[in-house]
Amino acid sequence: MIRAKIIGLGSYVPERVLTNDDFEKIVETSNEWIVSRTGIMERHIARPDEDTSDMCVAAAREAFASAGVAPEEIDLVIAGTVTPDFRVPSMSCIIQKKLGLLNAATMDIVAACAGFIHGLSVAQAYIASGTFKRILVFGAEKLSSITDYTDRSTCILFGDAAGAAIIGKSDDDSGILAIHIKSDGRYDELLNIPAGGTHLPYVGNGSVDPKLSKLHMKGNEVFKYAVRHMGDAALRVITEAGLTPDQVDLLVPHQANIRIIKATAARLGLPMDKVYLNIEKYGNTSAASIPLALDHAVREGRIKKGDIVLGVAFGGGLTWGAVLFRW
Ligand code: ACO
Repeated sequence: MIRAKIIGLGSYVPERVLTNDDFEKIVETSNEWIVSRTGIMERHIARPDEDTSDMCVAAAREAFASAGVAPEEIDLVIAGTVTPDFRVPSMSCIIQKKLGLLNAATMDIVAACAGFIHGLSVAQAYIASGTFKRILVFGAEKLSSITDYTDRSTCILFGDAAGAAIIGKSDDDSGILAIHIKSDGRYDELLNIPAGGTHLPYVGNGSVDPKLSKLHMKGNEVFKYAVRHMGDAALRVITEAGLTPDQVDLLVPHQANIRIIKATAARLGLPMDKVYLNIEKYGNTSAASIPLALDHAVREGRIKKGDIVLGVAFGGGLTWGAVLFRW
């Protein structure tokens, strides 16, 4: 069977930083509460004129350089995002135009924080079937555009970022050993944007509360499902690959909350020095979280050739997924 692998990675975070001190001036909160309950110290926020696709373009340029691949070699673009530039056309079409990826098909995937792993699973299937040879997968969000900055229970969590991965065929024993995605739409109301779709169109004429066009989350309930499903999904891919948790060299989890990450590591029996963390600097960047963390972990030398690397994510939908690589 043909195995897919990541052959290039890139990422981008906007310049502007919002610290916990800044939030103390916006809502009733404290640095102490935010750090102890979430692990977040700061997050990066895009400029008003900076679209999610612009962040993707910057991330992709790094991925092209690290893979040694030219834009015209890409035959599929998959963008995981809940904050596309437009509802129509897809963000992947906009990225195609901006990067000149004229030999590619395109699609967007809406799976919230699990968007990158969902995209990766589609890419893996296309590579395994031989349909496409070079696939560009993004996880990217401008969450600041859907954040209610009067809601202290959500606004302190989110940041903006983009990550890009180029996927190709593996010629050795490296690559994706196992990947798993799953959803449970029964819990759709735990994390949603109530207005803006066909169910409750948001027209901005005062008939719909503007706050309903922002992200709403029942945080403590999402927390419980996140801990359970991230652990289950991680164990599933480890088992499918014929390995045991102690063989994992690095866990790269979705950076949603330090307590969720610690609970997932504990469930797998992994010490925290085998867990990659950047939540303190970037907060929860949803679909961008895993590719951003993978890119930084590789560039910092935390991931080396031959390492067993576990990615695991959970998000609104509910959606979740896990992927196990031999790097
Ligand atoms: N500062 C101070 N107090 C706060 C803040 C704040 N920023 N936010 C909430 N509180 C208060 C609440 O009002 C509440 O007060 P009360 O007891 O007087 O009512 C108290 O803190 C506890 O609130 P909880 O919501 O129970 O706090 P919890 O410990 O659960 O932490 C958090 C909240 C950080 C949101 C957590 O639940 C969490 O991380 N959930 C999971 C988030 C997640 O993983 N989402 C999925 C991905 S996101 C996506 O898909 C886009």
